[in-house]
Amino acid sequence: MEDKRFIANKELIEDDGDVSLRPKTFDEYIGQEKIKANLKVYVAASKARGEALDHVLLYGPPGLGKTTLSHIIASELGVEIKVTSGPGIERAANLASLLTNLQDRDVLFLDEIHRLNHSIEEILYPAMEDFALDISTGKGAGATSLRLNLNKFTLVGATTRAGMLTGPLRDRFGVICRLEPYTRDDLVRIIKRSARLLKIEIDGDAAAELASRSRGTPRIANRLLKRVRDFAQVFNAGKIDLPITVRALNDMEIDPLGLDYNDIKLLNALINKFGGGPTGLDTLAAAINEDAGTIEDVIEPYLIQLGFIARTPRGRIALRDAYAHVGIKPPQKLTEQLSFLTTENTGDNG
Ligand code: ADE
Repeated sequence: MEDKRFIANKELIEDDGDVSLRPKTFDEYIGQEKIKANLKVYVAASKARGEALDHVLLYGPPGLGKTTLSHIIASELGVEIKVTSGPGIERAANLASLLTNLQDRDVLFLDEIHRLNHSIEEILYPAMEDFALDISTGKGAGATSLRLNLNKFTLVGATTRAGMLTGPLRDRFGVICRLEPYTRDDLVRIIKRSARLLKIEIDGDAAAELASRSRGTPRIANRLLKRVRDFAQVFNAGKIDLPITVRALNDMEIDPLGLDYNDIKLLNALINKFGGGPTGLDTLAAAINEDAGTIEDVIEPYLIQLGFIARTPRGRIALRDAYAHVGIKPPQKLTEQLSFLTTENTGDNG
């Protein structure tokens, strides 16, 4: 029996109401072209050999399609997928039960794999490497251990924090894919596809405006599309044109670059409270009353991508374009920061 606490079934993970916007095949999936092309090769080759696909690690910011890709991998392999997550597995027995229920070549999707408890993670090592489950029984001198063979399977792990995985776990993935923010063109195509599926009429310039404000993220694009549809229904006879799109996005306080209240709050704190930094992550988190992990995973990646902030060894700094965006004249000191940025390693130490 599947335990609903740690296995999400298909209904539970669909969040699109009646119509799923998730692409079901590689060919329906827009963007991430390199990853898709390579995955197609690995899937075709493992199918031709009749073997399980090597374990796959998908990493990158939230909303870029890690879960969607894992479902596509399973469906293209023609196997079942079981879905769970790091925090969802509380006890070793939960993972053991999942693993022993996998059929030959099935996919186990483990979301937020960086949040897996370390003692549970150790069960994964022999499972991934030798398709074996080591079970110890008894305690002290009477302790014995027995090895149970598992069916061959593919673990698809997903994380927003590849850096938080332990070396031994990372080393057991044969395929490692880093998902990148989507281009505006890809987002336009995704929005048009979603509009078609939802039977929404949308003008090309309205789709382009939505794409510009979606922070390179399909999940955000699809969410905004649905909210703009609400505005269009109430104020514009259901038709999504550019004026109703701009009005809806402005009313939702999403600015022309897609920055929302939280992004602006962070930029304002960094610039106004800390003179543009360098400011440590925890200091910044306390100043804006936000969780440090959310800042790192959700807020910062897009600000970094825009060139608004940088992570330096001494902390976060605001860059010239961030000052321009919030309408504040940058100080002279900024030039020094930039030369410091280019002469030292820019690794992140919070
Ligand atoms: N919906 C969400 N992400 C998508 C993608 N990458 N391609 C097509 N439709 C999507």
